[in-house]
Parts: sequence; C-alpha cells; structure tokens
Amino acid sequence: MKFIIRYGLAALLMAVAMVLLIPPFAASLIEQWSKSDVESRSVLAFNTALDELTGLLDEHDAKKIVALFERMALDEQLLAVGFCDRNGVLVYKTKEMPKSFVCKAPTANGTPQFSTLHLGRRSLMVSSFPVITPNERGQMVLLHDLAVVAQRGAEARLWTIAVLVGVVFVAAAFAGLVTILLARRWLQSMRRAIDDVRLGGSGAVAATEATPFAGEFRRLLRDLQMSQLPAEGPDVEWSPAMLRSVLARKLPGAEVIVVSNREPYIHNRDGGEIVLQIPASGLVAAIEPIMRACGGTWIAHGSGSADAETVDRCDRIRVPPSQPSYTLRRVWLTEGEQNGYYYGLANEGLWPLCHMAFVRPNFRDSDWSQYKLVNARFAQAVVDEAKRSDPIILVQDYHFALLPAMLRKKLPNATIITFWHIPWPNPEIFGICPWKEEIIAGLLGSSVIGFHTRFHCNNFLDTVDRFMEARTDREHSLISFGSHDTLVRPYPISIEWPPAAMAAQKPVAECRSLVRKRFGLADQVRLGVGIERFDYTKGILDRLRAIDALLSRCPEWKDKFVFVQVAAPTRSKLAAYTGLQQEAAELAREINARHGSKTYQPIFLIVRHYEPHEIFELFRAADLCIVSSLHDGMNLVAKEFVAARDDEEGVLLLSNFAGASRELSEALIVNPYDVHSVSVAIEEALLMPRAEQRERMRLMREIVRLRNVYRWAGQILLDAADLRKRRRILQLMSREQSAVNAPLVNRA
Ligand code: G6P
Repeated sequence: MKFIIRYGLAALLMAVAMVLLIPPFAASLIEQWSKSDVESRSVLAFNTALDELTGLLDEHDAKKIVALFERMALDEQLLAVGFCDRNGVLVYKTKEMPKSFVCKAPTANGTPQFSTLHLGRRSLMVSSFPVITPNERGQMVLLHDLAVVAQRGAEARLWTIAVLVGVVFVAAAFAGLVTILLARRWLQSMRRAIDDVRLGGSGAVAATEATPFAGEFRRLLRDLQMSQLPAEGPDVEWSPAMLRSVLARKLPGAEVIVVSNREPYIHNRDGGEIVLQIPASGLVAAIEPIMRACGGTWIAHGSGSADAETVDRCDRIRVPPSQPSYTLRRVWLTEGEQNGYYYGLANEGLWPLCHMAFVRPNFRDSDWSQYKLVNARFAQAVVDEAKRSDPIILVQDYHFALLPAMLRKKLPNATIITFWHIPWPNPEIFGICPWKEEIIAGLLGSSVIGFHTRFHCNNFLDTVDRFMEARTDREHSLISFGSHDTLVRPYPISIEWPPAAMAAQKPVAECRSLVRKRFGLADQVRLGVGIERFDYTKGILDRLRAIDALLSRCPEWKDKFVFVQVAAPTRSKLAAYTGLQQEAAELAREINARHGSKTYQPIFLIVRHYEPHEIFELFRAADLCIVSSLHDGMNLVAKEFVAARDDEEGVLLLSNFAGASRELSEALIVNPYDVHSVSVAIEEALLMPRAEQRERMRLMREIVRLRNVYRWAGQILLDAADLRKRRRILQLMSREQSAVNAPLVNRA
C-alpha cells in the first residue's frame, strides 16, 4: 500500500510540474512566433508601399502621402503609419499616431529596426524602414498593435493546459485500470502461493505462475513458516528454507566459509570451448545444495584447465552458473604441491590408512612438507576471504587436517567445524602414521569434528586418548586440548531431497526402455548397475566376481541378467588406481568370455564420468543396484539410488562396511569380501516380489527424505550455535569476574 501511495504521489507531483511548466513555455513560443509574424507583415506592407511613397516624396505631395498611409492603416492590426525626415521629425502621419511617438535615429548600416513601445497597458511594435530618394533620406514607421500577440499567447497557454489535463486524466484512468487488473492477478497468484505453501506444495505451481514474484513470495512464506517451526526433534522436515531459517534465527548475520580440496564446478578447455563439469565427489554432492541454500564463500583448489580464465581478479566466480547464489574462490597449486599434498599425503597416505582396504599407505617426508605448506596456503585464503572476525568455517575432509589449528591461531573467534568424510580407523591403525600427533593436534583446533558414524567418533576419541596429552570426556563427547575444547559428534551425511537431477527425469518406464535400447538389450532383460569413482575402496572387483559366481552357479540367468558398471576415472596418476582399472577391465573381459555369447554380454564396463542426469536415468532403468564398498564413510550413491526410485521399485544391495548401511537397513546388506554370499544376494534381488521391493523401498525413501543433507547441515549449525552461545556466556562471566576482582586488586 505504502508503495502505491509513494508512487501515486510522485506521479501527481510530476503531473503538477508539467501543468506549471509546459503552458508558459508554449505561450512564450507562440508569442515569439506571432511577433515575427507581425515583423513579416510590416516588411510586406513597407515593400508594397515603397515605390509609391518614393514618388510622392519626390513630389512633396503631403496630402497623397497621408492618404497612402491612411490606406495602409486600414489593416486592422496596423495602428498608425508615419514618416520621419532626416532630422528625426515626424513629418507625415496618420490620425491614430500616438502623440508620445518620437522618431528614432536610423541604424548606421541602414537596416530596418523593430522595437516595442508601451503605451499604458498597450504594447505596440514600431518597425522603422529607411527610405532614400534623390531629395529625401528618412524612415517610414509602422506601428502595429501587439494585442493580438498577447491574445495568441494567452490562448496557447489555455489550450496547452486543457490538453495536458486531458492527457493526465486519460493516462491516470488507463494506469488505474491496468493497476487494478494487475493487482487482481497478483492477489490471485499470491493466494495460490499461500495455498501451495499451506498444503506443503512442491513448487509445481511456481512453474506455471504468471507473475514474476510468485516464486519469491512462496519462498519467503516458506521461510516465515519455517522460522516459526521448532528446528529440533525427530519430526522436523528439513528443507533449504528450514536451513536458512536456522541460520537466521540461531546464527544471525553469520558468515559461512567452506574449505575443501575438490571444487563444486570445474571449467575445462575442450578444443575451443570451455566445458563445465560437476565432479564425481560425495563431498561436493552434499555440500553444494547447502551452499546454494545459505550462500557464502567456498574455497577450493582450482583444478580445471580453464578455471583461471573464468575467475575475476581476486580468483572468485559466482556459482552455480545458471543461478549464482554463492562465491567460489579458487586457490592455485603448483604441480609439486599437488603431487605432495593431494596425490601423496592425502591419497597415498591418509586415504588408504583410514579405509583399511588393504592397500598399503605410503608416508613420505616430502609429501608431508607439501601438505603442511598447502594447508597454510588455504588458511591464508580463509583469512583473506573472511569479512568478520568470527566466521563459521566448514573445513572438509582429510586434505585439511592441519587447517583447523592454523585457523584457530589466525581467527581465534571463528567457529571451526571440521567434517571427516572418510572413516577414522582404530588407534593401532592410525598409529602407523608418522605425523599422528601433528594431525590430531591440527584437527583439535576445531570447535566441532564430525564423522558419519558413532563408531568413527569412538575411534577418534580412542586415538586421542592413546596419543595425546588431552582430556576426553566420553559422556559429552568432548576433548580438552590445551586451553581449547572440541566437540566430537556423528552427523550422517546425506543428499538433497528431492535431488535436483530428478527434476528433468522421464518416467521410469521410459528410462528403462531408453537404457535398454542404448545397450542393445531386450525389454525383459534384468539390469543391475553400479556407479562410482574407479576407486579400490568401492569393491568393484569383488562385485564383478560375485556376478561371475552367480552366472556359474545359476546359468539360467545367462541372457537374462546384465550388469552395467560405470566407473569415473579418478586419481589416475597413482599406481593403485591405474592397476585397479587394468585389473577390472581384464576381469570384465574374462567374465564376458566365460559366460557371454555372440548375442549376450553379461558385463558392460563404462569408464567415463557420468553427469547427474545420466546417473539418475540409469538408476531408474535398473532392477538392482550394487554398492559393495570395502570400507566407506557413508556412500551417497546408495542414497541417490533410493531417491531416484519414485516408483518405489528396485533393490539395493549395500555393503555392511558403508556408513549408509546403518540407516538403510531395508537394503540387502552384504559382506563384499564374501563373493558367494553377494552372488546369493543378487539372485535374491532378482527374484524379489514387487510388493516386497516396494515395502523396502518406501521405508528407505522415507529415511532419505527425512534425513536429508539439510538436516545434516542444520544439526551441525545448531551445535555450532550452542557453542557460540556458551562461549559468549563464558566471556561475559570472565569479564564480570575481572570487574569484581579489580577493586580487590587495587586495594591490595
Ligand atoms: C571422497 C572424498 C572427497 C573427494 C571425493 C572425490 O568422497 O571424501 O573429499 O572429493 O572422494 O575424490 P577426488 O580426489 O576426485 O576429489
């Protein structure tokens, strides 16, 4: 309403200004034009009379001259005509010539002159024209009444005012009509938006909405609704709006900074073109929707071949490209830094150490030096990006174990939340690491350290107990190290719900037939899928062996069951990874040779990166999905498969050693090391009645829906908010204490 009043008043002021300014301007224009019209008339009258006047002047015929002048003065606008001689004496004149008229001296160059003579309220234009004859040298004067000029000006003013008032009136009526129509439509769409929110709508209405504000309004309404809901408790429905509301309510004005090695958007140069890639990383899949919802800055290694071309002077770029909502700050690493920090210590040392996948970890001094150096570089990047002294910094994964303590020194008031996306081993295994104390001390710079499971939290507490001079409070899961406390908590990570990639998916039946056509399979062929990075922790070889065992034990499945394994190449510089790729390709060939025929290929091994929409299409086309990780912090592929199946069909086989198996207990839980039992589970999945599939899938979908990634982030942020509150209370108490002690000290 205020908006309408403000703009209405502005329009009224503009209309008044127009009415005040335009008519005088128009009147003066018309007056000028009329004056020049009178001047032209004088010139015409003079030129017409000149020849006759010259003759009469030579004859000195006063009577005829006056008669000529009287004839000219018959023109109603011409008041009087006269002749001034060379001495400036008015020698001939018509009757109406004003008595006060005085001849003016002629111009030096003999040009006509025009001036105005005011007689009381009357204005006259005096036009003087030089007249030269052999005997005479004088001026003919013509006096025109300017009343007509004033009259035309007044008329012009009146007409302009009338026209302007008319235009303003018509425009106001038209604008009013349009406003009423728009307001009506706007109200209707707002009403629909409110209904949509009230009924818990999915936003489908937004897509068909005609007004541009309806979507925004719906989002605001939802935020408002969320801000009135409790943020804790088992029934809380977590969504981007809920997360935003928790941030706004519990951490008002908070600045969020994420640090990870892998960036969410990679720009690569492909020939002449820049191609955008979303990397295959569980971490990215989980954190990206959070950043989209909350905004802030994400600091990561710029690893794409066109990354440097796409950032600004400060190495920043707003993302997602389609709808920018947060800032990606890229940090550049040299090849030596990447080799030591990323390939070396992180992926040849800590990754196998924490995963217990029976790949020997390698620890090299040179890698450790690079790891420390790169952690320090990222610490500086955080300090550069932080706009406040107390940001919330979300440190991600095993690439940055030293970062929390470095940040604690540089930004003592920051809330540092570290999430370890991979398992944490027991103290015996972690004890292998030559720099265990430094790594743990680095992590203990955090305010909160999160793991996927309680089991990994306990392993961490045990490790701290074993190797550090720290106090561990098991009851509160709190570690006191130096003068600092760190909370250790399980936060099972998840995916966004519904996943963005689902928006463009075709119905399941269509996905099934499209994928079958792509692989040249008959409609009735049962399809199993596995999709992940080509990593030895994922149990890809064991899975292929289980399929081999199934086809050997139950040959009736030949021709009827096909397995598509999509494996995205990863960390290919490392021997453990290239070795795995070769071994898997060899094994797939062997199995295909053993069980295949000219028309039947049991295993398709596709070694390339799949985009999210392709992954979801494959999931929707499948009868079963195998996640057989030998060890995995959580495994989001399992959750994505469940989220993809809105038809509530399909069977998930899930490794007992993936964190996800703690939540998705309706999957067929398997031990990937036991090839026979996995082959039995595959058969069980192939024979599972649809009703049972639906029952299991429904339960799992409910869990993934409720325990989505917004809940994961929300719970971490709620804990962070509590910590901040507690710290503020402690600071207040210590300030009060010093105030109480001060007089005593002074007295002493
Ligand atoms: C795991 C790690 C992530 C990592 C991802 C992909 O999920 O926990 O930190 O981003 O693997 O690995 P990459 O080395 O390609 O980033």
